[in-house]
Amino acid sequence: MIFDPAEHSPMECQFMLSQLIVPRPIAMVSTQSSDGIPNIAPMSYFLPITGDPMLVGLTMGLREDGTQKHTYLNATESGDFVVNIASDVFADQIEVVAFESDAIANEFAATGWTPVAATKVSSPAIGEASARLECEIRKVIELGTPEVPFGEVHLVIAEVVWVWFSDDVLNENERIDPLKLAPISRLGLRSFLKTVPEAVYSLPRISAEEYAALDGRS
Ligand SMILES: Cc1cc2nc3c(=O)[nH]c(=O)nc-3n(C[C@H](O)[C@H](O)[C@H](O)COP(=O)(O)O)c2cc1C
Repeated sequence: MIFDPAEHSPMECQFMLSQLIVPRPIAMVSTQSSDGIPNIAPMSYFLPITGDPMLVGLTMGLREDGTQKHTYLNATESGDFVVNIASDVFADQIEVVAFESDAIANEFAATGWTPVAATKVSSPAIGEASARLECEIRKVIELGTPEVPFGEVHLVIAEVVWVWFSDDVLNENERIDPLKLAPISRLGLRSFLKTVPEAVYSLPRISAEEYAALDGRS
């Protein structure tokens, strides 16, 4: 099969990326509207950008009715959001918070998750998350083709101004243990991936001598 982006709609191109660039980490993004209504949405077009400054990026499209996502409206109005790292506790309700509800819906009430105050930003965090990044928006880059249905896309670049994680995700060396953090990620279509011991493996760093031997130089 081949896929020529020039022959496809923005939606089909995005769908192709979504099926092939997998698994993608899921940011559970929590925000709050100016009238105090909290919101949660999963976002898997989510990437680390740099450590200095400590930046992350999120790509936010339009809702199915063609309007802006509440996450985008809330975050650009308040200037901040919280990325709660999705793990097992969120697994069964990812589609509940992805549901494009009306303006008055409170996704904390719908899921039973607990809103907690963030340390540095105005957006609420999710109490059940074992790690979170508190983010302040630094730049929004408009991408896509707004004239085409669903062609409007915002790349939101934000600085992580505070990181919190539970002691429960640490290993004996005080490093974050991937199996204890146990992130959930998104695969193509309606599939998700859990971080389970039988799927995780480690490799030691290779030394210069070992590499040279493989390379036939010694
Ligand atoms: C696993 C998953 C990942 C998603 N990733 C994104 C994303 O990266 N960007 C985006 O705009 N929408 C994404 N969506 C869709 C939003 O979560 C959905 O539109 C959400 O309801 C937006 O809600 P809001 O209007 O309350 O912000 C994703 C949905 C799921 C289930």
